[in-house]
Amino acid sequence: MKVISVVGARPQFVKLAPVAEALSAAGIDHQIVHTGQHYDERMSDAFFADLVIPTPDYNLAVGSGRHGAQTGEMMSKLEPVLSEEQPDWVLTYGDTNSTLAAAITAVKLHLPLAHLEAGLRSFNRLMPEEHNRVLTDHASDLLLAPTELAMDNLRREGLADRTQFVGDVMADVCLRVTESATPPQLPAGVSQTQGYLLATIHRAENTDDPARLGAILAALRSQPIPVVLTAHPRLVAKANDAGLSLAGGALHTVEPYRYPDMIAVMAGARAVVTDSGGLQKEAYLVNVPCITVRTETEWVETVTAGWNTLDPDLDQANNWANASKPADPAPGLYGSGKAATHVAEALLQS
Ligand code: UD1
Repeated sequence: MKVISVVGARPQFVKLAPVAEALSAAGIDHQIVHTGQHYDERMSDAFFADLVIPTPDYNLAVGSGRHGAQTGEMMSKLEPVLSEEQPDWVLTYGDTNSTLAAAITAVKLHLPLAHLEAGLRSFNRLMPEEHNRVLTDHASDLLLAPTELAMDNLRREGLADRTQFVGDVMADVCLRVTESATPPQLPAGVSQTQGYLLATIHRAENTDDPARLGAILAALRSQPIPVVLTAHPRLVAKANDAGLSLAGGALHTVEPYRYPDMIAVMAGARAVVTDSGGLQKEAYLVNVPCITVRTETEWVETVTAGWNTLDPDLDQANNWANASKPADPAPGLYGSGKAATHVAEALLQS
């Protein structure tokens, strides 16, 4: 069996790591296409090196662009590759423009399409990621769901017969990296004894409106303990355009961490403040409370279990540094680290 994984953005490289390993262990001929959506060393190559992911068989080097141009260029470059390779499955990951480009290209070529992390919904139709995931789910032949809630969403949309529960592959990789955790690489002036917050902001809804971005940065700056802000390129670009500084007050801005360092810094933090999907889960997996600066989350279980708080209006900014953990130990929401093996089984059996 031949499977082609199409990836392009940072969270997809993390998901690809355990999947590539499991597919190879199952004897599947696995090829990787990197669209080039993320191309900075720290956003791309470092993940392949640190997570020991095989070098992509194809790199489409598409780079940044507006949604239509970026997605369209990916499709036009993917078509000849998928046409030539004729895989038994095209495997897409998550909710980025690379996901949607792979989905549309595969179905137009009548190639079987599988979607990993299917069924997540924010129900916020202003998010580009929401369109990417809904359209990809409905185009796919095999929907690989990470949670029971995702299964419910797919059932409600009439997709139950194409859906299989596999668990969450991000838990596979996060749990593995945690086992060999290195000490956190903290910027000067920040220490674990004193305590710190770890923050990431990159969603269009938070970065693209200068007033909104300014309010978030002001809230971070006024924290009573240091805030380690790992700056996604979109954040740097948008802050620059808006004339907003990423320094001052409690802020300690650093370049994106490598994955093992990110997990170590997260595990040592008092709390995480983020708009990332992946971080909400990773914070939970390393037993750190999370504050999500969005109106909704796709990972509702983390909120229900008391590990994640939505604070879209920054009302609780005065309490971010005191975020507490629930009294009960974390329930095993995302599986025991075997999701990627279930992905390989599902592809072989479907
Ligand atoms: C994308 C995904 C988002 C995911 C995120 C993870 C879409 C619509 N969004 O958002 O779902 O959570 O990746 O990081 O696909 N840039 C660089 N270097 C890079 C990558 C990007 O400088 O290596 C800059 C460019 O200026 C670019 C901007 O970041 O215009 C945004 O990149 P883009 O890929 O469009 O979306 P992300 O915000 O990264």
